[in-house]
Amino acid sequence: MAPYKPNRVVIIGTGAVGTTTAYTLLLRRRMPELVLIDVNHQKALGEALDMNHGMPFIGGVKLWAGTYEDCREADIIIVTAGASQKPGETRIDLLRKNISIFRDIIQKITKYNSHGILLIATNPVDILSYATHKISGFDRRRVIGSGTVLDSARFRYLIGKQKEIDPRSIHGQIIGEHGDSEVPVWSLANVAGIDLNFTEEERQSIYENTKNAAYEIINAKGATSFAIALALDRIVDAILHNEGAVLNVSTLLNNYNGVSDVFLGVPCVVDRSGVREVLDLTLNDQEQALFQQSAEKLKGEISKLDL
Ligand code: 2OP
Repeated sequence: MAPYKPNRVVIIGTGAVGTTTAYTLLLRRRMPELVLIDVNHQKALGEALDMNHGMPFIGGVKLWAGTYEDCREADIIIVTAGASQKPGETRIDLLRKNISIFRDIIQKITKYNSHGILLIATNPVDILSYATHKISGFDRRRVIGSGTVLDSARFRYLIGKQKEIDPRSIHGQIIGEHGDSEVPVWSLANVAGIDLNFTEEERQSIYENTKNAAYEIINAKGATSFAIALALDRIVDAILHNEGAVLNVSTLLNNYNGVSDVFLGVPCVVDRSGVREVLDLTLNDQEQALFQQSAEKLKGEISKLDL
């Protein structure tokens, strides 16, 4: 019998997103081994120690502050490291700062790991996921961006609030860039298969609040962390439990509604292999045009990079 290998998740970056994600995974006991890595090792040590002192209340998870060598046994490596948005900054504004550290991080990971799934959360997440795919040489199915999983959650939350219905019962999704050009798929949004019957004004307000949610939170508290951590936890769960869950992660597109060679958030079937399948959406003309504009915007930024 082959020796038992416990599932291991590694988180790179112990800022607001990395630590909240670690804590969320820990509370939900998603995996037996969790490793925290940060360029500031002291910070990772402190976070690991603090969480470990809660272990008598949780149990079942071995957690430590590690090094890139710990990626060797990793099933999923979540990258959250990098500069985050300051008030007034867009996600794209972070590209210059984050692309160079990304090259270094992905090369360090792939020195030890060629079999795992790379789950990218650092912004601008779609472009950095594309860069990760190029730098790592990993199969497209095993490079996953958090994409519009969070935006779709914000969208469903806002629709649910308006309708006074549990957001889990709302079917709605955002596709495209995780950022200012994201696209709401109103033509397919529904509750129990029934059209939502929103006025144009209501739709606009829900879309604007979805798109601007991060700006609002960053202005108020400096960073976002809780909802993105839950979104990453959801993706990890779908992978480790081989769920075949449909999540709007960012994936490499190939002739998808007229779009190729860019990572964008679209509905994907996620299981132990990563993105098993990309689901083809039938968009209306307006949605398709907006989706293509979102792709063009990101492709313009990608073309300026030396990948
Ligand atoms: C968010 O949407 C800032 O991308 C991050 O919460």
